[in-house]
Amino acid sequence: MMLPTGSAIVAGVAGWPVGHSLSPALHGYWLKKHEINGIYLPFAVKPEDFQDFLKFLPRMGVKGINVTVPHKESAMKLVDILDETAQAIGAVNTITVENGKLHGSNTDAEGFLANLNSKPWKKDKAVVIGAGGAAKAICAALKQEGVKEIILINRTKEKAEAIAKPFGAQVMDWQSRALALEAASLLVNTTTQGMKGEAPLDLDLAMLPQSALVTDIVYRPLETPLLASAKARGHPVLDGIGMLLHQARPGFRAWFGVDPNVDEGLREAVLALC
Ligand code: ATR
Repeated sequence: MMLPTGSAIVAGVAGWPVGHSLSPALHGYWLKKHEINGIYLPFAVKPEDFQDFLKFLPRMGVKGINVTVPHKESAMKLVDILDETAQAIGAVNTITVENGKLHGSNTDAEGFLANLNSKPWKKDKAVVIGAGGAAKAICAALKQEGVKEIILINRTKEKAEAIAKPFGAQVMDWQSRALALEAASLLVNTTTQGMKGEAPLDLDLAMLPQSALVTDIVYRPLETPLLASAKARGHPVLDGIGMLLHQARPGFRAWFGVDPNVDEGLREAVLALC
């Protein structure tokens, strides 16, 4: 492994707390693999310090950062240049310093798609459960891919209604979620249901065609109760860790100058920390 020298490229992730972040291990894996003279640090930044933190990034020669909870929304207003996707999603997860200016982007949609495209899937009718930041990124990705029909369903309907329009998504009631699965070709869970310590997502899959791909953005555990029951019914399934791994690629490429691969070694290294 190459030890960083004084000319090492510096990047990192800012969050509060940041101790749970898998990004240092993820980028660390690629730095080692590609023998890059670089370092990727966790930055524990309180919300009240985030603005100052960003101001000093270019002055300290930091090449870029990932942004995680709770800074993703506030970063939008604090960067100098905001890309279209970050604007549509309403959150920034990647910042690159160029000529002293902060460029904000959001790579979650790209990460979701790269993961999704590792399996065959049809662009007919997608049902997305949930209406948080992840749901927005996924709807943006589905719209960009030209999916014919996007159905958005959330326990709190108003939240779904508030985000649906720009993505051309149609909102349905939480009560009719089982019926909404009829003729769907893709089902995505973006809620926290099914995560370790949470109840499983309460969704009857009986109406879902067997060819429909079922995917979850939850990756703790890797096989959520939703994915387990989909698998048992014969659906193709896709776990959530791939989205996390793929969303990191554009940042790494921009800061360290190498386009990294999501390989089995990376998956194993990150899963060992989950
Ligand atoms: P993120 O921004 O990371 O996507 P979030 O904003 O915390 O996450 O969103 C969590 C999602 O999980 C929401 O859609 C939430 O539904 P509500 O808007 O009704 O709160 C959903 N969620 C959380 N607990 C749920 C439960 N018990 N049943 C159904 N949906 C739930």
